[in-house]
Amino acid sequence: MSTDGPPPLHGGAPDRRVTGRDLQRAKDRGERWAMLTSYDMLSAGIFEAAGIPVLLVGDSAGNNVLGYSSTVPVTVEDLLPLVRAVVRATTRPLVVADLPFGSYQASPEQAFATAVRFLQQAGAHAVKLEGGRRVVPQVELLVSAGIPVMGHVGLTPQSELVTGLRVQGRGEAGEVLLADALALQAAGVFAVVLEAVPAELAERVTKELSVPTIGIGAGPGCDAQVLVWTDMAGLTAGAPLTFVKRYADLRGVLTQAARTYAEDVREGRFPGPEHGFL
Ligand code: KIV
Repeated sequence: MSTDGPPPLHGGAPDRRVTGRDLQRAKDRGERWAMLTSYDMLSAGIFEAAGIPVLLVGDSAGNNVLGYSSTVPVTVEDLLPLVRAVVRATTRPLVVADLPFGSYQASPEQAFATAVRFLQQAGAHAVKLEGGRRVVPQVELLVSAGIPVMGHVGLTPQSELVTGLRVQGRGEAGEVLLADALALQAAGVFAVVLEAVPAELAERVTKELSVPTIGIGAGPGCDAQVLVWTDMAGLTAGAPLTFVKRYADLRGVLTQAARTYAEDVREGRFPGPEHGFL
């Protein structure tokens, strides 16, 4: 683990994991922070070294690692090894495991059984689940059992077959979204993701909530931001979504590297004498 990068949010010993309480204190101090998704050992180590305090092993692994076209097919079995890898590769960030579609909606007991698997079998430090008031019983049971929970309202991709993938909370729906976020807070979540909601509404929710909000496509008024790492680093194919800022062109760099390698092999330039054994 590298200690390069910004100071840890908790300001304490560098080998301590960030906690929900640290994130709360950051909000109370007015300090913004960035969350990234991570699905593997190498990216997790890099993001830790860069000072990212929270890593989300999102079900966006479906479209970024597993080759699905949405998050709906992602299973607990798909995500467990990815969470294990991210936890093993890091010592500082809070690692949040996404509860995949179908693994928590049926009942609080189902949510509890799934969350326990992520904590016991993969070492996750918290879980995230999608939905507002309809998942409050799940959140209450998990939190009362000692499991930190991150909420997620606005666009909830696991419901895309019903809602589509569009901005949520416009007009009167904004009041519903605010009520959902407040209900999640009352149930005990330590933070709430606001996905694809109008910036003005996200700012209002952020002011009304005492727990941190984490925006994605929700404007600058949130306490924190999250991006899918492959979008952020330009590994994803195609034009970026409106709310994504690309901080690198990994796709271009990797394509060029693979082309040059293949050409070197074809032309006999690789391996050279320095790459062999005597
Ligand atoms: O799965 C995911 O990556 C997410 C983020 C977009 C918040 O839920």
